[in-house]
Amino acid sequence: MVKSVFLTAALAASSHAFQLPASTHASDRLVPRSTSLDSERSQTADATDAADVRIRSLGSHLTRSLAPTLAAASIALGPLACGAVSGGGMDYANLNLTGQDFGNGNYKGKDFTQIIAKGTIFSKSNLQGCRFYKAYLVNADFSGADARGAAFEDTSMDGANLRNIVASGSYFGQSLLDVESLEGGDFTDAQIPPKTLKLVCDREDVKGTNPTTGADTRDSLMCL
Ligand SMILES: *[C@@H]1O[C@H](CO)[C@@H](O)[C@H](O)[C@H]1NC(C)=O
Repeated sequence: MVKSVFLTAALAASSHAFQLPASTHASDRLVPRSTSLDSERSQTADATDAADVRIRSLGSHLTRSLAPTLAAASIALGPLACGAVSGGGMDYANLNLTGQDFGNGNYKGKDFTQIIAKGTIFSKSNLQGCRFYKAYLVNADFSGADARGAAFEDTSMDGANLRNIVASGSYFGQSLLDVESLEGGDFTDAQIPPKTLKLVCDREDVKGTNPTTGADTRDSLMCL
């Protein structure tokens, strides 16, 4: 009996959550199932029933109280998830831009996540806030680019040219160590892992002054 009561309550709760009509239909549907369960239940100790009721009523209470929360969450997340795709578009994410020329352009806020950009030219472009997360940027040219607030974490940047880049507030990972040059770059407030930064500061090309901002490269990295 307890099971059928619980199942009725749970189903009523979930029907309620999905705005289906009242529980009368739910209990009709449950009748055959609960009778088949009754024979099993005759073996079960009565002592567990009280606990069962408490746990199960808690369960249906949770079902009831979580349902609106989950509904609200999916409503709230829906447009966001869509926005990531249709709002600014996926832009260039996952594309192979090897050897292409993106120089002297405006790509502010664009998504270059996981691009393959071997030798791709981004020189003197506006790359503010761009995402290059997990991108393959071997030998890419970022010289003189405005990459403020851009994300370069988990990239491959072997041989990349960061000469005179404005990368204030940008995010770098270990691959910053692999670039061909960062002379004249402005890295003010850039996020660089401490271990990486220590090694970056040892580089001979950590020198010069950024022609755009006037920042001293070494000072901008706060190298000792
Ligand atoms: C990317 O494009 C270049 C040039 O078209 C090509 O040589 C290379 O094989 C491509 N790489 C991949 C992984 O598709």
